[in-house]
Amino acid sequence: MTARTVGDVAALRDLPLEYPVFVETGALAALGDVVHAFAPAHRIGIIADATVAQAHGDAIRASFGGMRVDLLTVAPGEQEKTRERWAQLTDALFALEFGRDSTIVAIGGGVVCDLAGFVAATFMRGVPIVQVPTTLLAMVDASVGGKTAVDPPAGKNLVGAFHNPKAVLIDPLMLRTLPASVLRAGLAEMIKHGVIADAAYLEAILHALPEIALRGADSEALPSLVANSVRIKAAVVAEDTREDGLRQILNFGHTIAHAIERLVDYQVSHGEAVAVGMVVEGRIAESIGLAKPGLALAIADSVRRAGLPTSIDGLSLRPELRSRVSPLAVVRATRGDKKARGGLVRYALPRQVGEMEAAEGAWSVPVLDEVVERALA
Ligand SMILES: NC(=O)c1ccc[n+]([C@@H]2O[C@H](COP(=O)([O-])OP(=O)(O)OC[C@H]3O[C@@H](n4cnc5c(N)ncnc54)[C@H](O)[C@@H]3O)[C@@H](O)[C@H]2O)c1
Ligand SMILES: [Zn+2]
Repeated sequence: MTARTVGDVAALRDLPLEYPVFVETGALAALGDVVHAFAPAHRIGIIADATVAQAHGDAIRASFGGMRVDLLTVAPGEQEKTRERWAQLTDALFALEFGRDSTIVAIGGGVVCDLAGFVAATFMRGVPIVQVPTTLLAMVDASVGGKTAVDPPAGKNLVGAFHNPKAVLIDPLMLRTLPASVLRAGLAEMIKHGVIADAAYLEAILHALPEIALRGADSEALPSLVANSVRIKAAVVAEDTREDGLRQILNFGHTIAHAIERLVDYQVSHGEAVAVGMVVEGRIAESIGLAKPGLALAIADSVRRAGLPTSIDGLSLRPELRSRVSPLAVVRATRGDKKARGGLVRYALPRQVGEMEAAEGAWSVPVLDEVVERALA
């Protein structure tokens, strides 16, 4: 593959962000030029997921042409998103004599986006970063919004910083090497975007699902769907950069999902947990009279068509973990969620597909535990 220039790839138009997001098949070939144009630096450090570096390393290097770059790899998996790995990467940059005039390029799924993002946010009090998400989830979620983090023993994402990238480059072709189950996790977040913001978008996703199931990363519909999700996420985070209001709608399905994930020590796919969470929270919205009957069924139908589970029983869980996720246990676990202020746990809930409850600007509503337990049963 030969290098392309920034002029060859189109950034999404009219995004309410301070940085461009490029979404295009084959965009990876322009990475070197994108870095040169938006985050030029004396030294360029690529922090990449090891699996991704192995599969796409040649294309990555080719895009930088003759430019000097240093490649640091991170073994795959959430267990790498630690302060220890952050310290090691930071020290590796110092050992390579990186200074203030450096740019970090993150290439990987959400784990590497978050970890490399936190390295960039803190290295010499902050150096530029370019994000190259390589899972569908990272493309439509983790790469946009500027949240970076590592997981201390106390819990997921509890140490981190807001650090916006200088550019985001999304090449759907990089998804070719992604296992189908990991691809589906991204579909759950895309369905979420449809439910929280755009009914027509949800329809477009549903229409494309058979083709995506058949062709995966080569789906012709995928690039524009990814772009649509990026637009929705961008619109939300632009309005509420630090998560005190509107950004809560992105948590739809996640209060239940996080509770399930915690109960099984994260031995469940985030996408599956979110899928179930959306169905359950849809049911909660119906039972407290926020949404008309039928919403939960419509969400369940979308989730099912994406090949994702609609109930706790449908989760791909090791048998010995099943007993941990009873309705009562899940309700109890929601109390550990950071959105539990005051007495009741708060939920971001839809009124209908495409519209979330504003609750006088709070964008989340307190719900009784009994209601949640019934929705889970
Ligand atoms: N910052 C944010 O706003 C934000 C938002 C959502 C999620 N996240 C974080 O994202 C993380 C989850 O991200 P994820 O689901 O992308 O998981 P991940 O980064 O662990 O990637 C999943 C797996 O896919 C592999 N992989 C990645 N790209 C590949 C490719 N192109 N080909 C082959 N294999 C590939 C990885 O090696 C890994 O094994 C969590 O830590 C979560 O907290 C952050
Ligand atoms: Zn999520």
